[in-house]
Parts: sequence; structure tokens; C-alpha cells
Amino acid sequence: NFDLKGRHFLSLNDFSGDELNYLIDLSAAFKRQKQQGVPHRICEGKNVALLFEKPSTRTRCAFTVAAIDLGMHPEYLGKSDIQFGKKESVRDTAIVLGRMFDGIQFRGFAHETVEGLAKDARVPVWNGLTDLYHPTQILADFLTVKEQKGELSGIRFVYVGDGRNNMGNTLLIGGAKVGMDMRICAPKSLWPSDEVVDFARSVAAETGAKIMLTESIDEAVADADVIYTDVWVSMGEEAEFAERIKLLHPYQVNMDMLTKTNNSDVMFLHCLPAFHDLETEVGRAIHAEYGLTEMEVTDEVFRSRHSFVFDQAENRMHTIKAVMAATLTDTNEWLER
Ligand code: CP
Ligand code: NVA
Repeated sequence: NFDLKGRHFLSLNDFSGDELNYLIDLSAAFKRQKQQGVPHRICEGKNVALLFEKPSTRTRCAFTVAAIDLGMHPEYLGKSDIQFGKKESVRDTAIVLGRMFDGIQFRGFAHETVEGLAKDARVPVWNGLTDLYHPTQILADFLTVKEQKGELSGIRFVYVGDGRNNMGNTLLIGGAKVGMDMRICAPKSLWPSDEVVDFARSVAAETGAKIMLTESIDEAVADADVIYTDVWVSMGEEAEFAERIKLLHPYQVNMDMLTKTNNSDVMFLHCLPAFHDLETEVGRAIHAEYGLTEMEVTDEVFRSRHSFVFDQAENRMHTIKAVMAATLTDTNEWLER
């Protein structure tokens, strides 16, 4: 049994591998209940604030639907809808929201902002993505792996692409926590910071996880169970497109890379949104400027039987539900159902 009531969920750093596995198993239980039509309104009457500085499809919808399934009222607060940031400080916003709501989700730029909210809100604060970490995403990713492979410990997990972004950082730490064979494959200038790597290595020394950082695709993907990538340019870094395309083009996930794993059942994952074709507004602009038709993953891989990206997207909802429920109420009995 675990008691996570009253805890914040800002990064994976303060959670043990057992606690992360508990949240993943709780998510799977809620997923079954949802599929069977079993109500689980275990947070009835509570209210949660969903504060967004950056856009979102999955995270916003996952928090909204999960909150309603749990019997709660979710309130979306876009940055320009409220006083936050322009006329009111993080601290005052935290205090006011904490006086009215039972929990607060924040998505935005600086990780210090979500930490500031957590310091003063007096209710659980959940990180829905900052420049540094994306912890709810990793729970969905690991649930998706567990559904296919049955376990997390020992899984050979390759993250290829921008190793310095929120996904690279959080996957590396999450993988270390749950005992994976975690490989970051990127040009050296895009490896995670020493601080993140040192922390992951110290966790791995206790959990038996393996950590590899390499520039070599052949070395990284040998016998891989999972290949994961993310966009080459994250929200807020739009000035970097030309440089990132140059650096990361050799690291595109394509069928040739999947073949190199020698594993006919290798999984492909991506947190989404993905540039698997360039048929979006931003995609068309990139196509016009750089002549590319695909970026971090080919459309062939994205649509192949290896790809579990839409299971991942759905699992955002089940895992975010587990995070909210476990930090707001007692969830142990729900795990058994
Ligand atoms: N993966 C993810 O966080 O998606 P959104 O930006 O749509 O929330
Ligand atoms: N690294 C990406 C993740 C989006 C879910 C970004 O921060 O834009």
C-alpha cells in the first residue's frame, strides 16, 4: 500500500521506482474500470485548476476527462485569461488558487514556476510539462510499454534525438528509477546536462538500471525493445530549427533504424505531436524553407505495426487520473478492483 495523498507531482526525482510502478498499476486499474463502465468518482465534489502557458491537446484533454471521470470539476485557465504573469506573481496566484481549488495543474516554460506554485499553494500541484521535465508523459509511456512487454525492469529503451529537452531528461530519470537499460542516442551537444546525468547515474546505482549515452546509432539500438523520439525543436525554441535539423537529421527514426535493432517486435513511441509528415501549418513552413518531407520519424514507421503512439496518447488520460486520484484521496482499494 502507498500513501501519496498531499504530494506534489513536479518531477520523477522525488518518487521511488515502487511508487512509479504503483501509479502505473493504478492507471491500468482505472483503464479497466473505464472500459467496463465501472464508475470511479472517488474525488466527488473537488475542483481542479488547469493552468496553461503553452498550448496542449493531450495534456489538457487528459486532465479534463480524468477530472470529470473522478467526479471533479476542471477549470481551464489559459495564461492570457487570468492575471497570472502580467499583473500577479506566481506566489499570489498560488495562494489564491489554493484557497479555492483542491489541486493545480501547470504547463509552461520555467520549471521554477511550477516549483513556486507548489511552495505556496497548499494543495497538490501537478507538472503538465515545463522546459525541464514532463513527468506525467513518462507514466503514460511506461504504461504503454508494460501493456506490451509485461514489465519495465530490464527493458532496453532507446531515446533518440534531442536528449537535452524535457523528454530526454524525464525518460532518463524515469528509466533509472524503474531499472531499465536506458540509452540516450544524440549528438554530444544535445546530451542531457551533467546534473541530470549524475542524478540518473546515482539512482541507477541503487536500482540496477543501466545508463548509456552515445552518439552511435548502431551501439544504441542493438537489441532494443523500444525506440522513442520527440520533436527536434520544443515549444519555445523555434529559433533553433535550422541548427537542429542539421544536428538531428542523421538521427531520424526510419525503418533502417528499426531493422538495426534485430528485434522484429521493437516498439516505436513518441509523445506527440509528431512531424511524421509535414502536412500541418508549421510543417508546411519547414518544408518550404528546408525542403524536408518528414522530420524526427518517417511516416512509414509512424503508421507501422511497431508504432504505439495512439495507445500512449490514450494512456495520458488513465495515468493523469491516477496521479490526481493518488495525491487527492486514498486509492489503495481501487488498485484491487
Ligand atoms: N504529449 C503532450 O504533452 O501533448 P500535448 O502538448 O498535446 O499536451
Ligand atoms: N519536447 C516537446 C514535448 C511536447 C509534448 C516540447 O516541449 O515541446
